[in-house]
Amino acid sequence: MLTGAGVSAGSGLRTYRGPDGVWEEHKVEEYGNIQTLIEHPERTWQLFGGMRAPVQAAVPNAAHYALARLENSLRPEQRFLLVTQNVDRLHQRAGSRNVVELHGNVSFTRCTNEACDLEPFVDDKDHAHAVPKCPKCSSALRPHIVLFGEAIPPMSSWPVKKALRDCDLFIAIGTSGVVSPASNYVRSAKYAGARTVYVNLEPLSPKNPAFNEEYLGKAEEILPNLLFCGNPSS
Ligand code: OAD
Ligand code: ZN
Repeated sequence: MLTGAGVSAGSGLRTYRGPDGVWEEHKVEEYGNIQTLIEHPERTWQLFGGMRAPVQAAVPNAAHYALARLENSLRPEQRFLLVTQNVDRLHQRAGSRNVVELHGNVSFTRCTNEACDLEPFVDDKDHAHAVPKCPKCSSALRPHIVLFGEAIPPMSSWPVKKALRDCDLFIAIGTSGVVSPASNYVRSAKYAGARTVYVNLEPLSPKNPAFNEEYLGKAEEILPNLLFCGNPSS
């Protein structure tokens, strides 16, 4: 399973693209990439620190719960991996267990100095007014997320590669499918012989022929029916 911001839209969190998207208000080139963190770390904090309060106030919706229920109802020999691009931890709060947070977690802070041994830690402050400093090495601290221009850490990418190799059902939910590497996963899944399904409010644009099936509408309405009745609209 691959999820994106559309899964959390039903929990009141903003998506990144589209009319009310995060990148409409904060241009991605000015706030979302690694260069910004190096040159203007206060902007990185302004955007991602500002997400902490809404993320903490949000609660999982029927889409998160349906995915957790599916995972928890599998037979022991069946394997399941939930790969999310979301940084809100709502899947885990709904009860999902085997989750890869491809883009990190916005509620954690870590050191920018890669040689520093400070572990990422839970942090509820938004640091909107001053860039915080590391208590161990005094380098700047940063949100624990993957910015544009940064690689997905192997700890996250490796389990995804392994799961795609013998995947028989791949469902992408609530993602615009424009950000790699996640946007490429469907091709690997299809190559491995999986049934490939796209669930989203809007159709993929441009279409991706690697998807066999497409169900359009709200994930929180479609998923419970699709996963448990085999019919997206029942
Ligand atoms: P996007 O904002 O690009 O796409 C969200 C998709 O969800 C859109 O295609 C919407 O049509 C759809 N959508 C909205 N509400 C929905 C609902 N209730 N049910 C189903 N679909 C709905 O978000 P992502 O594809 O997740 O990275 O974006 C990928 C990455 O780009 C993000 O993780 C983020 C961003 O830049 C970082 O910030 C590191
Ligand atoms: Zn440090």
